[in-house]
Amino acid sequence: MKVTITAVAAFAAAAAAAAVPTTNNLKMIRQAMPAITDADILNYALTLEHLEDKFYREGLANFTEAQFATAGFDATFYANLKEVSSDETTHVSFLTAALTKAGYKAVAECTYDFGALTPETFVATASILEGVGVSAYLGAAADIMSAAYLTAAGSILTVESRHSSYIRASLGESPFPTPFDTPLSLNEVYTLAAPFIVSCPSTNPTLPVKAFPTLTSAPTNGKITVGSTITLLTPGSVVTAADGKSPIYAAFITVTGPVFAPATATTGGFTVTVPKAPTGSAPISGQTYVVLTGCNTTVTDDTVAAGPAAFEVGPL
Ligand SMILES: *[C@@H]1O[C@H](CO)[C@@H](O)[C@H](O)[C@H]1NC(C)=O
Ligand SMILES: *[C@@H]1O[C@H](CO)[C@@H](O)[C@H](O)[C@H]1NC(C)=O
Repeated sequence: MKVTITAVAAFAAAAAAAAVPTTNNLKMIRQAMPAITDADILNYALTLEHLEDKFYREGLANFTEAQFATAGFDATFYANLKEVSSDETTHVSFLTAALTKAGYKAVAECTYDFGALTPETFVATASILEGVGVSAYLGAAADIMSAAYLTAAGSILTVESRHSSYIRASLGESPFPTPFDTPLSLNEVYTLAAPFIVSCPSTNPTLPVKAFPTLTSAPTNGKITVGSTITLLTPGSVVTAADGKSPIYAAFITVTGPVFAPATATTGGFTVTVPKAPTGSAPISGQTYVVLTGCNTTVTDDTVAAGPAAFEVGPL
């Protein structure tokens, strides 16, 4: 697939307008987006919960307590892993019941491919999924209309974040690497979930989400920190500026706004140096999300060319 970044000038104009968040501008932005109902958001959350639920149940079926122990995860970890799995199953039944009670059709479990994992890569993947779960609920919060649903989603978000901290600590990472978590848009989250989803029942309600082209961070020797140069790969697509010469940027997403870094084309993708966030902004640390874009002032679903890629940025 060829992804051309078009109308960079138009993005810049939209960005300039968006930079002044008057009520009128916000209304325009809202109206430009397809209406997302609370039922859509609950089903979107349920889509992720099904994925997590199946992931833990498969992992616990694939690996014994002894195999986790051999990999360095002790009996306490194993007991907690079973608890995490059970929490995800409960989230699935809770959201399914909430949708059904409100008169909506709830999405059913899909077929997934988590690849061939070892106990180590299973726990590493669990950590990424929990982090994405936190970013998904956080990002969707602003779109939830009903106060009751917002509280329910918040009560799940805090538990996902506790799972995330525990698993991170078990991997020797900081349980709370930054003072701020990162909200992601529905499409950004779906982009990260989509590679695991093989197919879904045709009877599932269609959700207003799409996946952007895949972006991955190439394996590195050693930890990634601010200042590291990383390679972002675009498997299955070629990202170019429509005019062949306009710059392409990597936008590192944070709650205080994206931090941009120039992306230099290389075989299969781009090299990017992880930037330092400006003083007073959320730092780029912990589970980090980056997208490719032709615009260096804002990130919206209209300006994302590929990604996000999710990877860990460690302390300096
Ligand atoms: C469990 O094992 C199967 C068969 O090897 C594999 O396809 C699947 O991805 C594994 N799932 C997890 C979560 O480890
Ligand atoms: C954004 O792009 C403009 C030109 O397209 C350039 O002048 C400016 O320095 C860039 N800013 C950043 C933060 O990269």
